[in-house]
Amino acid sequence: MLRKRRMVRSFGDGDVAPPVVERLLAAGLRGPSAGFTQGVDLLALQGPEETGRYWDAALPAGKRAGFPWPGLLRAPLLVVVLSSEEAYRRRYAEADKARSSSALGVPWWHVDAAFAALLLQLAAADAGLGALFFETHGVPALRAAFGIPSAFSPVGTVAIGHPAPDRPSSSVTARRRRGPEEAVHRGRW
Ligand SMILES: Cc1cc2nc3c(=O)[nH]c(=O)nc-3n(C[C@H](O)[C@H](O)[C@H](O)COP(=O)(O)O)c2cc1C
Repeated sequence: MLRKRRMVRSFGDGDVAPPVVERLLAAGLRGPSAGFTQGVDLLALQGPEETGRYWDAALPAGKRAGFPWPGLLRAPLLVVVLSSEEAYRRRYAEADKARSSSALGVPWWHVDAAFAALLLQLAAADAGLGALFFETHGVPALRAAFGIPSAFSPVGTVAIGHPAPDRPSSSVTARRRRGPEEAVHRGRW
């Protein structure tokens, strides 16, 4: 399943069956969470009406002409992954955490959101689906369109659907994947 995960930027017309959607969303929430804060929420948009409103906000019609990944707009499921910095700051002010000198030296709200996004992608691969994690553009317009509260900020969006023929991004074709012999430092750096 790990080896099957690849970013897919073009989708076919087929829907994701509702029980599969539920499984993916549950998987997204099954990750670890700093202090068990669980300050990550998911905004799930299903079907052309909801995903259409996402694209109207994130990629307004005027910007669509030159968009390099038109097949991405066919994804039947978009999951915006959001986290609340405030929730982590509240949790880490509680008695058991306030004593820890390293508290919030790392922005755990981003870390936990990334775990959630990766679980969504792995669950999609496990279900034989494709997924792309990508930057959430047009955040103010998305807040207005979907009533996203100010305490939550998107870390990214995961598009999920049935993979269609795609071309690899230039990020991948221009680079080779680093293996353990290069990126793992055993015993010392
Ligand atoms: C934090 C992060 C942000 C990314 N943002 C985008 C994006 O906005 N658009 C996009 O097409 N791909 C995006 N990607 C996908 C990467 O380009 C892709 O993971 C990388 O080229 C390796 O390909 P693979 O995931 O298929 O192995 C993002 C990946 C990560 C981890």
